[in-house]
Amino acid sequence: MLTDKEREEIHEEMMAYPYPSAVCVDALKIVQRHRGWISDSAVADIASELGMSADAVDGIATFYTRIYRKPVGRNIILVCEGISCMVMGYEPVYKHISAKLGIGFGETTTDERFTLLPVSCLGDCDHAPVMMINDDHYNNLDIKEIDAILEKYV
Ligand code: FES
Repeated sequence: MLTDKEREEIHEEMMAYPYPSAVCVDALKIVQRHRGWISDSAVADIASELGMSADAVDGIATFYTRIYRKPVGRNIILVCEGISCMVMGYEPVYKHISAKLGIGFGETTTDERFTLLPVSCLGDCDHAPVMMINDDHYNNLDIKEIDAILEKYV
């Protein structure tokens, strides 16, 4: 069940669009901001609110890298595995982070500090390899600097 606050925020977004389903991504982001991730029941509740099918909402939720359909850690690391990053050093970056945190793609550390996810391109190909942690962007990555970067996130 959506909270009053979630419903209110979703309806504020609806004011700017001609039909409710147009705010589906915004609704997912709103609910995720409040809960941290999007459960099956959240999908059903958003679908009901927007007059959509749960399958349609789920299709949108699973399309977007930054909508999380499973619980995630406090900090999300997105490591780019696009072609430019692949050529310019994605693998040592991924292996270093994975070894340091003891997790692979799709996994969360036991202390729930980090979740590690792949992403196909972060739009900064000429500064590969690239990753994001939450909304922070890191490019021209050198594995020597990764430990210090991770330390910034608690
Ligand atoms: S391929 Fe990594 S930023 Fe584009």
